[in-house]
Amino acid sequence: MTDQEQILSLRSELHRHNYNYYVKNAPTISDREFDEKMHLLMQLEERHPELYDANSPSQRVGSDLNHEFTQVRHRYPMLSLANTYNRDDVQAFYDRVSQGLGGEAFEVCCELKFDGLSISLIYEHGRLVRAVTRGDGEQGDDVTANVKTIRSIPLILNGSGWPDSFEIRGEVLMPWQSFEDLNRQRELAEEPLFANPRNAASGTLKSKNSAVVAQRRLDAYFYYLLGTELPTDKHYDNLQRVASWGFKVSDAMRTVGTLEEVMDYIDYWDHERSHLPVATDGIVLKVNSVEQQQRLGYTAKTPRWAIAYKFQAERALTRLNEVTYQVGRTGAITPVANMEPVLLSGTIVKRASLHNEDYIRALDLHVGDMVYVEKAGEIIPQVVGKQMEGSGAAVTFPKTCPECGTPLVRYEGEAAHYCPNDSACPPQIKGRIEHFISRDAMNIDSLGPETVADYYGRGLIHNVADLYELTVADITGGNTSRERSAQRVVDGIAASRRVPFERVLYALGIRFVGKVTAKQIARHFGSLDALLAALPPGSPPGKIGTEAPRSGELEGVAGVGEVIAQSVRAYFAQDANMEIVNRLRGYGLQMEIGVKSEELGVRSEALAGQGIVISGTFARHSREEYKEIIEACGGKNVSSISSKTSFILAGDNMGPSKQEKARQLGIPLVSEAEFLDMIGERNETNENENENQNENENENQNQNKNENENQTNAAPQQLTLFD
Ligand code: IVH
Repeated sequence: MTDQEQILSLRSELHRHNYNYYVKNAPTISDREFDEKMHLLMQLEERHPELYDANSPSQRVGSDLNHEFTQVRHRYPMLSLANTYNRDDVQAFYDRVSQGLGGEAFEVCCELKFDGLSISLIYEHGRLVRAVTRGDGEQGDDVTANVKTIRSIPLILNGSGWPDSFEIRGEVLMPWQSFEDLNRQRELAEEPLFANPRNAASGTLKSKNSAVVAQRRLDAYFYYLLGTELPTDKHYDNLQRVASWGFKVSDAMRTVGTLEEVMDYIDYWDHERSHLPVATDGIVLKVNSVEQQQRLGYTAKTPRWAIAYKFQAERALTRLNEVTYQVGRTGAITPVANMEPVLLSGTIVKRASLHNEDYIRALDLHVGDMVYVEKAGEIIPQVVGKQMEGSGAAVTFPKTCPECGTPLVRYEGEAAHYCPNDSACPPQIKGRIEHFISRDAMNIDSLGPETVADYYGRGLIHNVADLYELTVADITGGNTSRERSAQRVVDGIAASRRVPFERVLYALGIRFVGKVTAKQIARHFGSLDALLAALPPGSPPGKIGTEAPRSGELEGVAGVGEVIAQSVRAYFAQDANMEIVNRLRGYGLQMEIGVKSEELGVRSEALAGQGIVISGTFARHSREEYKEIIEACGGKNVSSISSKTSFILAGDNMGPSKQEKARQLGIPLVSEAEFLDMIGERNETNENENENQNENENENQNQNKNENENQTNAAPQQLTLFD
C-alpha cells in the first residue's frame, strides 16, 4: 500500500469509528487502537503535506491559533418558532393547520426542543464546508473550525443519496456531564461559572481557540434539512435519511395523526426528559409533509407549520423570610433571598439569588411573600416571581453598605451597587487579604480566612503589606503555647517572597485581572517598573524607569481590552495602592519576571539525565521557572515530545494534540504536584492546605472577554455560590 492509499484508508476508518463512538454510542474498537491509528495517520500526514485534507479526522483536535469570525449570510434566513407554554395554544395551532389545509388530513412530527444554540451546516459533495451560527437570523458567524472539533458531526458523509449541496440545521449542546465537569474545573480555577449548559455551549462555540472547543465535549442533534432536492416529501423520513448519512438525530421523534397523541407525547417527555443526557426545554411540533408546509407558509418571523411548546421550569413555592446583602472583595453588593427551606429538583433550597436592585424592584418583593424559586437548568436557584404578597415590609435595597455604612454607588452601565469604601470596609479588606494569600496568588498556606479575620479583628493587619511586618510576638500576644504555629505563619509569609511576579500581580486583586491576564501582563512588560512606565502621564510615579510612557500599550497585551486596561490604570493611580505596592517591593517580593532557580532554593541531581517536556499552565511556578528548576536539578528541558522524552510535566490545559502524542508514544504525564514531590519541594511548604474558598463574585462580569479562551460572547451570568 502506498502512503497515499494508507492515509485515505485510515481517514475513512477513523471517520467510521468516530461515528460509531459519538453518534451510535457503540464503538467497535478500543480507545487504544483508535489512538494508534490516529497517531499513524498524523505521522503520515506530517510526511505528506501535499495530501492535506481540511476534513481529515486529524483536524478534530482544533488549533491554538486565534481566529476571528467572519460574517456569513444565510442562504435561507434562520427563523425561530412561535412559542407557547399553554396546551390551549397547541390545540389552536392544530386547528389553524387543519383549516389552512382546507380540512385535509395531516401528520404532525413531534420532536424534543433541544436547549442549546442553533447551527447551520453546509455540505457540498458529501463534505462539510461551512458552519454558521444563527446570528441575527439573516447572517451569523462562520464557526467552521470550531464545529469540526465536535466529534458527532460528520466531516465526510456516510452512505449515499445525499444531495450534492444542502443545508442542515441542528442544535449544538453541552451534555450535562460535560457541563458539570467544566464548572467543577472552573470553580477550582476561580473562573466564573457558566449558568447553564446553553451558556456554556454558546460560550464554547464562540471561542476563538478551536483547541479549547475540542476539549469541551460538545454534541449536536439535527432536526431540519433544507434544500431544493430533498430525498422525500416527509420531514420525518428525511431525518431518518440524514441519520444514515452520519448525523445524530433524536430517537425521540414520532409522527402522529391526532391532537390526543400530540398531548400524550408532551405528557410523556415533560417527565422523561429529566433522564436525558442533554438539556431540553420543550417539544417542537411540525407538519410532517414538506408540501403541506409550503402551502401553509410563513408569517414575518415564524413558520405557520410549526410551534414550540415549552415546559414549565421546575419551580417551588416558599416563603421569603429575609433579604440579606453580601459584600464581596470588590465591594459589589449581592442581594440574597433567605427562604423557608423547600425541595427543588432533588435538593433543599433555602437561599436564592436576587441579582440586583432592579430585579428586586421588578418583583415588588415584601418580607413574607410566597415566592417561586426555579432552577430551570441553572445551577443557582433564582426567585422568579411571587404568588402572594406577604404582610411584611417592602424589600428596599440599602442606600448604605450593610457592613460599613458608606453610601453605595452604582456605576454607569452596571446593574450592581458597590461600596466604594475599599480602604476601610471590613469584608473588602479581609476579602483582598484572603485573595492575596490564596493558592494561585501568594500561596501562603499557613494562613486561612479565619486567621485573617482574627488578625484583622485584633488590629494586626489592615492590608496585604502589613502581613510582612507581622512578628511571632504580635501573633501570640504573649501566649507562648502559640509560638510554634505563629512561627509557621511568619515563615510562610516570608517564603512567599519567592513567588513569581505574575502571581504577585494577580495577588494584588486588581479588578478584572485574573490569573491569565496577570500572566499576560507580566510577560509583556517583564517588570512592575516597565508596566508603570507604560501608564499614561499623570499616573503617580512609582519607581518609573527611564522609558517614555507608552500610553495605550496595555490594550496591546493579548487578552487585555479597554475594561481591563482601565481597571489597571485606575488601580495604580491610587496613592493607597501605590503605597502598598512599594511596601511589598521593599519587603522583597518579586517585581520582575525570571527569578533564578538558585533563588528558588532548588538544586539537586533529582532529574539527572532526564529529558522533560513542559506543557500546560501551572499554579506554583511559571513555565520559565520550571525550565530553570529542571536545569538546576540536572534535567534537560526539551521542546517537543519524542520517544526519547522521559516524561511530560503536565499542567492544566495541556493541548489535546500533545496529550494524544504522549499517549501514543507511551510517555508518562507527571502532574505539578508529583513533580514537586520528585524535586523535594512540595513537602517543605505544602502542609496545612489553605482552605480558602473563592468567593466567586464573578469579577469578570463586565469583561468583554473571558480569560483562558478569548470568548467573544460567553457573558456568563453573575453567579454567587451558596452553601
Ligand atoms: S426547528 C423553522 N426543531 O429552537 C424551524 N428547532 O425557536 C426551525 N430548536 O432556533 C427550527 N430543538 O435553535 C427546531 N427539534 C427542533 C428544535 C429546534 C431546538 C431550537 C432552534 C430554534 C429554536 C426555535
